[in-house]
Amino acid sequence: MKTHMMFQTVDWKNGCVVLIDQTQLPKRLVSVRCRRVDEVRDAIKKLKVRGAPAIGVAAAFGVLLAFRGVRTQKTQALLQQVKKASARLASARPTAVNLSWALERMGRLAQKNVNLSVSHFREALLNEALAIRDEDRSLCDAIGQHGAGLFKRGDRVLTHCNAGALATAGIGTALGVVYTAQDKGKNLSVYCPETRPLLQGARLSAWELVRRKIGATVICDSMVATVMKQGKIDRVIVGADRIAANGDVANKIGTYSIACLARIHKIPFYVAAPSSTFDFSISTGCQIPIEQRAPHEITQPFGQTTAPRGVQVFNPAFDVTPAKYITGIITDQGVVYPPYRSRLKKLLRSPCS
Ligand code: MRU
Repeated sequence: MKTHMMFQTVDWKNGCVVLIDQTQLPKRLVSVRCRRVDEVRDAIKKLKVRGAPAIGVAAAFGVLLAFRGVRTQKTQALLQQVKKASARLASARPTAVNLSWALERMGRLAQKNVNLSVSHFREALLNEALAIRDEDRSLCDAIGQHGAGLFKRGDRVLTHCNAGALATAGIGTALGVVYTAQDKGKNLSVYCPETRPLLQGARLSAWELVRRKIGATVICDSMVATVMKQGKIDRVIVGADRIAANGDVANKIGTYSIACLARIHKIPFYVAAPSSTFDFSISTGCQIPIEQRAPHEITQPFGQTTAPRGVQVFNPAFDVTPAKYITGIITDQGVVYPPYRSRLKKLLRSPCS
């Protein structure tokens, strides 16, 4: 049985990129329509659309907006627009490799089709963006099927941030596994650390789980050690923004501490990610660029002042979990166990290509 999608996080409709505005959840489920490249860039920067696979799909559609209002019969001129739009979109967020992966794929397709007429060139690019969206759906389904078998009936699962349908064009990665296992009758329940400072766990993962009628408990990030010590967690599953060739995983800040705590408490720690999240061009997690975000996200979250003016702030959006703390990586091709370097390469023959 295929796990059904409840909403479409990112899509292309009537010449616009349509996104669920995730900054409005859980209060309101509303969409925004982007008509210009910079509106998509801004939506990615402000986390209206977020989650590694979803920003890749949004950027692929965003490239198409570069053609709006352009009157030319020269395909070469459109190719230049594609290059310009890609550079703008790629600079929106640095850590999730899915963003540059999707843009490079659009760029390669554009270069290959530069001899087509303008209308055929535009059509080819639209088809490529739609394929990136559809493939992401299938990758999520495959991850769900591969991962579901790792869960036992009644398992109490801890996740982090949101690696659900809101973070992809499909059912999600980490939460996609939970949904698939649930559909197989596993009767899971999920702990969601709130994920400071922007609360993707409390606002987004909890919202998705409640909609699916799966038992969800929100905890503060600082409570993870306690719930583990109290024996309330059987398994951890998180998503990823970029995975290095040695299996080191960049994901939402706080993931690394959860992995350390899972090791201390002897709890299996799984990462779920599609092949578009692997970056074999880098050897270890040390080389993954970590996005630093604005201080006001910590000192004035959601408009409330929570720290004094003038205080210094450190606000990295992601951390890197060393491969040695990861029990297994659930991919669309199957589950990979250590040693990761050789096994990942073998399983995912040409990721990010
Ligand atoms: O800053 P965000 O909300 O984009 O961070 C998202 C995450 O860290 C997710 O866990 C990750 O992108 C995996 S999404 C399937």
